[in-house]
Amino acid sequence: MPKTQDELKREVAAAAVDHVLKMVSPQDTVGVGTGSTANLFIELLAPHKDKFRDTVASSLRSEELLKKFGIPVVDLNMRETIKVYVDGADEINPNLHLIKGGGGALLREKIVASASEYFICIADESKLVDKLGAFELPIEVIPMAVAVVSRKLASLGGEAHLREGFTTDNGNLILDVSGFSVSDARELETTINQIPGVVCCGFFALRPPELALVSSQNGVQTLKLNK
Ligand code: 5RP
Repeated sequence: MPKTQDELKREVAAAAVDHVLKMVSPQDTVGVGTGSTANLFIELLAPHKDKFRDTVASSLRSEELLKKFGIPVVDLNMRETIKVYVDGADEINPNLHLIKGGGGALLREKIVASASEYFICIADESKLVDKLGAFELPIEVIPMAVAVVSRKLASLGGEAHLREGFTTDNGNLILDVSGFSVSDARELETTINQIPGVVCCGFFALRPPELALVSSQNGVQTLKLNK
């Protein structure tokens, strides 16, 4: 019987725990992402909580779950570096450029990724794409700038929809944007970052993961960034 998507997520979360345990020592901090795959990573990491010092969470939801499993969580300001960061993705292209933010935690995810020595992206194979953009690009926006940012995005070819009833952990709103033809995610990420009112966009191309672990019916595949 084929493995379910949940089983595939669990398998890749377990592979990420194996990787992390090979990298960390008891003085190290682990960065923890957000989403259903990251939740499984938290659950499977819990029995090994004595093998690292503590964690930094990329969302209030993940922080709550980490604490529920008795895993220490500290504020990022308390640590100079994060040894390894593990997080899911909504899309992964062959260059390991990502779209993230389906769960709305993109800003804190990007901050934690930027503070990390090594970023491992975990996903099931449904997230692999040749070209980014079928998944609507999440963009975190200051509330007063929603209309003006939407117009600027339209001039770039994107159609923005406000994510209804959702406020980020940082008190901002999310625009989900369709219609971009993404030939160069790094360039589009740079352009969108420069729109006043945009706090963060869901492309993770300027700081891609060093490694992606991707589960399929045939096991877990390791994709490495070609620097
Ligand atoms: C949250 C994210 C998640 O990593 C992304 O949405 C993937 O989630 P899941 O593991 O539930 O498929 O970026 O902001």
